[in-house]
Amino acid sequence: MLYRLANRVRVLVVVLALAACTAETDIADEATLERGAELLLPFKRDLQEALKSGLEKGPVEAISVCRFQAPAIATSLSRDGIRLGRTSHRLRNPANQSPGWVSPVLESYLENPGSRAARIVPLPGGRSGYVEPIVLQPLCLSCHGETLAPDLAERVAELYPDDRATGFNVGDLRGVFWVEFAMR
Ligand code: HEC
Repeated sequence: MLYRLANRVRVLVVVLALAACTAETDIADEATLERGAELLLPFKRDLQEALKSGLEKGPVEAISVCRFQAPAIATSLSRDGIRLGRTSHRLRNPANQSPGWVSPVLESYLENPGSRAARIVPLPGGRSGYVEPIVLQPLCLSCHGETLAPDLAERVAELYPDDRATGFNVGDLRGVFWVEFAMR
């Protein structure tokens, strides 16, 4: 009888310990998700601003913004152990290939179109990866939509002979933002 009770208590202790562990993991995951989102904010904001001011000068000029400013912004924010960028399953510029750990996450977004929540990935050396989907907006159609204006199409073909980044519709998954970092 006593033995059985002791056993029950032991089971209960294990269950409680497991519950505490899960709760701790959840809190850690939550903090990692928040940190990832926070680190991507300036990248997303600067890109959006650069694109908007570029488009004011006309879409052909705005191509230069995407070509030169997007990588420059990513480089300027990739410091203090932080690395970030954007990639796609249909790349315009092959240089926007992501680190290997991003690909399975991108694939899972493609396989489950209903799931657009940000994801975190544990990385070697105690680092973390964070991925967020990029969804096509009306603003993007002129350069990534079904049909491009002839002057735009010509310029894109000239700069990106292997372009695979047209034919998207509003709401489609265009790619992902990713960032790597160590939690403080
Ligand atoms: C003025 C044309 C233009 C517009 C508008 C535009 N893009 Fe792009 N996009 C480009 C060009 C050019 C590149 C290639 C940049 C480079 O060389 O790194 C690119 C690259 C990208 C990439 C990187 C992956 C790849 O294919 O190389 C993503 C992601 C992307 N665009 C998403 C968007 C989204 C989302 C929008 C709307 C908010 C948008 N773009 C609007 C021209 C445009």
